[in-house]
Amino acid sequence: MTSPVIDTPAAGAGAAARAADLWKVYGSGEAQVIALRGVSVELERGRFTAIMGPSGSGKSTLMHCMAGLDSATRGQLAIGDTALNGLGDAGLTRLRREKVGFIFQQFNLLPTLTAEENILLPLAIAGRKADPQWFQTVIDTVGLGDRLGHRPNQLSGGQQQRVACARALVARPEVIFADEPTGNLDSRSGAEILGFLRRSVTEHGQTIVMVTHDANAASYADRVIFLADGQIVDELTEPTADAVLDRIKRLDVVATGASE
Ligand SMILES: Nc1ncnc2c1ncn2[C@@H]1O[C@H](COP(=O)(O)OP(=O)(O)OP(=O)(O)O)[C@@H](O)[C@H]1O
Ligand SMILES: [Mg+2]
Repeated sequence: MTSPVIDTPAAGAGAAARAADLWKVYGSGEAQVIALRGVSVELERGRFTAIMGPSGSGKSTLMHCMAGLDSATRGQLAIGDTALNGLGDAGLTRLRREKVGFIFQQFNLLPTLTAEENILLPLAIAGRKADPQWFQTVIDTVGLGDRLGHRPNQLSGGQQQRVACARALVARPEVIFADEPTGNLDSRSGAEILGFLRRSVTEHGQTIVMVTHDANAASYADRVIFLADGQIVDELTEPTADAVLDRIKRLDVVATGASE
């Protein structure tokens, strides 16, 4: 089966992932929550994008829909030139396996496997072999050379997250989605992880999108998108931590209706 191809190149050429007028509604009746209200965004290839916004603003929902982990209520989604709409469960599973990498706040490593086995698991499931040279590059990048035989409970949190980064990078996915990857780490381990993500974009052309609450973490990105109440409300390019903090303050002022 071939994947459907988006037939509007003007609206998607060069994007590693995109959403167009994406709506996500959870539940119905009184319990209904509108998590996303018509979000349109393109994630350019080889760029590092951060998504920020208050708790409940829809950041994780946006990532899950764009990564094919959750279905859209309405709107168009694509990874590379593959449209997610209408792919079906089997197609979505294959797409996630072949084109998407994930890094979660809780690491999500398998406890019975060694670091190396965890890193190679997605490729093994897909029936693919790691390119030995690239595997070595990834291991060197995340600095795990002497820990490959350890199991997750024999590793620190920072080391476990490095394993998770290596696992995402080794398959060279079209795009890596990271949901608060430094949320459980001390600032030094967090900075290391952010450094690896930055390098994988700058040196290896990887595309990464990362949810974070931390202005400093966001400053590693090329672009920051601000969500509020299920909508994109602002955006910054080449962000510094100060510029991000300043923007958050201003958005708070707008949201609360406060005057200066
Ligand atoms: N499975 C679900 N069922 C019902 N409502 C949900 C579900 N998942 C998320 N929501 C709701 O959708 C809205 C957006 O949630 P989401 O998890 O995307 O927020 P977030 O920006 O990632 O927040 P946080 O910063 O706390 O992680 C919230 O109001 C949340 O309660
Ligand atoms: Mg979230």
